[in-house]
Amino acid sequence: MPTLPGRRILLGVTGGIAAYKAADLTRRLIEIGAEVQVVMSEGAKRFVGVATFQALSGRPVRDSLWDAQAEGHMGHIELARWPDLILIAPATADVIARLAHGRADDLLTTLVLASDKPVAIAPAMNRLMWAKAVTQDNVAKLVARGVHVLGPGAGFQACGEVGEGRMREPLEIRDDVVRLLAAGPMRGRHAVVTAGPTREPIDPVRFITNRSSGKQGYALASALAQLGARVTLVSGPTNLAVPAGVMRVDVETAQQMCDAALKAAADADVFVGAAAVADYRAAEVAREKIKKKADRLSLDLTRNDDILVRVRGARPDLFMVGFAAETEKLEQHAREKLEKKKLDLIAANWVGGGRAFDRDDNQLNVFWSAGGVRELAHAGKEQLARELAALIVERFQARAVPAKAKSPQKTK
Ligand code: PMT
Repeated sequence: MPTLPGRRILLGVTGGIAAYKAADLTRRLIEIGAEVQVVMSEGAKRFVGVATFQALSGRPVRDSLWDAQAEGHMGHIELARWPDLILIAPATADVIARLAHGRADDLLTTLVLASDKPVAIAPAMNRLMWAKAVTQDNVAKLVARGVHVLGPGAGFQACGEVGEGRMREPLEIRDDVVRLLAAGPMRGRHAVVTAGPTREPIDPVRFITNRSSGKQGYALASALAQLGARVTLVSGPTNLAVPAGVMRVDVETAQQMCDAALKAAADADVFVGAAAVADYRAAEVAREKIKKKADRLSLDLTRNDDILVRVRGARPDLFMVGFAAETEKLEQHAREKLEKKKLDLIAANWVGGGRAFDRDDNQLNVFWSAGGVRELAHAGKEQLARELAALIVERFQARAVPAKAKSPQKTK
């Protein structure tokens, strides 16, 4: 049964080796009922022939602003209005940079600029190009304007290197598209989730950390994305893949997490603090490796800022959800944190004795003001995340926050 009947996808294909995967993506979208109009950049045509996309999509490929015959049939402004979604896959570092700067120097970038439809990009590039600060800045600009970033994935790259930057697989992107076009209750909303541990350096080779794997926070980021939210995941060091449709910002220390959280929260509708943030850091980080000399060694620690408190200070109107990791008096301690940090909801889990941290299952008791409580039964973290996300939507809607005005490029 097709899941995208009659939905119109304008598929922009740009010049990277992953362009060959866009052919399969075209087929995958068509077999679930979508109409696909392919727009190729000049670079893309060096990797895959126009005829391939024409045959798969059943439509002439568009590739130029100056094709009088094609323009006569459907002008580029009309074409910009045609789709339900503009999907650029693969999106090279170059097209990402041009989109971030509002360039309109070929058909595809002109269409994006001339359209008010949702835009999604599936980045594909060498790992070093992806990691470059300028690329990350460009991606962050696009995310801030409401562009959905699908991936990238990690693994072997065509250039022979291994790392983050390869395009997500066609079936994964197809599922992202189905999710993006589904009408979810969080559509048009921006959710920020913190996840994972922080690392507080002691010297160049040692740090203080905790047992958080990030699984609970990542599952929640994914669940909120599945409800239609644009999700920014501020993550401490983990081994987890970026969930579909989620934009991850990598950090290491609590201070970095706080800075990234404050930045992402500036235009957020919902904030969830699932990270296990170090409460203390070394007062001074040794410049050289600390030598083994005395029998005892004392570390002088200083308090880290509380991220939830800082975010609340910056955004008194934000719907905020905290977690509480407790080894005793679960409800009492959770409710104290709810009040002290001025949260809307708090999800408390029992920890210690092998519970919650670094495992696939968990159990949550969620509390809110005026005695509000919901027990989420012991289950896998993904199931629990879906239940918690549904509760967040319920409480968020009950608070009746008016939708923010959208810029034309944001998802509706
Ligand atoms: O990552 P997993 O292995 O999947 O494990 C999941 C989890 C157990 C880490 C998760 O479910 C969880 O409980 N996360 C919060 C852990 C924690 O730090 O709890 P806390 O009770 O110490 O902190 C209370 C709240 O304040 C949390 O939302 C925390 O993110 C936040 N906090 C804490 C310290 C700090 N400096 N800034 C904060 O914002």
